[in-house]
Amino acid sequence: MLRGVDLELFPGQIVALVGENGAGKSTLLRILVGLETPDLGELRRVERVGYCPQEAALYARLTVREHFRLFGSAVGLSVEQINQAAEELLDQLSFAQYADSVTDELSLGTKAKLNLALALLGEPRLVLLDEPHASFDWDTYLRFWELAKLRRQDGTCIVIVSHRTDDTELCDQVYNLSNGKLGRVS
Ligand SMILES: Nc1ncnc2c1ncn2[C@@H]1O[C@H](COP(=O)(O)OP(=O)(O)OP(=O)(O)O)[C@@H](O)[C@H]1O
Ligand SMILES: [Mg+2]
Repeated sequence: MLRGVDLELFPGQIVALVGENGAGKSTLLRILVGLETPDLGELRRVERVGYCPQEAALYARLTVREHFRLFGSAVGLSVEQINQAAEELLDQLSFAQYADSVTDELSLGTKAKLNLALALLGEPRLVLLDEPHASFDWDTYLRFWELAKLRRQDGTCIVIVSHRTDDTELCDQVYNLSNGKLGRVS
């Protein structure tokens, strides 16, 4: 149960959300994105939110490129904008060779790349990432951080749930969720 969560997010910030397994990190993100309703409290959201769920929410029978088309049109991008964003993300996260592969046949890490890329489509100003890189190889992990820093420069606010100490060192702020309460660590 979440008991006392007070979190203000600003443009150009990367914020880490840490806490032990079962602390409620994923639940908090689902509330922020509007997938769950809190029993009490107020939530003010001014922008569209990009959301990368902890478990990839993908369609087994669609290809990577078809996912970009589906999710891109859902956020109002034109075909040209979708194609351009897809090419960039396929390159930045190094999975262009799988663009026409059916999702069902992708490795766990490649599915995670697509899950993350879809959250970033259309350059949302607020991005909530729930352990997006848990199955990334080392090179992709570094690429992820390059991408996150680029988005930060453009004023995007990124919240990342992570258990990695190297992540918390790269973030601007770190919050710990414990016993339902959110506390600022750094
Ligand atoms: N809608 C809900 N109503 C009540 N309890 C829930 C609901 N959703 C999740 N929970 C419970 O809340 C707790 C926190 O789950 P959550 O998945 O948010 O933890 P987490 O911090 O993300 O853990 P992990 O590090 O393992 O991903 C769990 O015990 C879960 O069963
Ligand atoms: Mg979780």
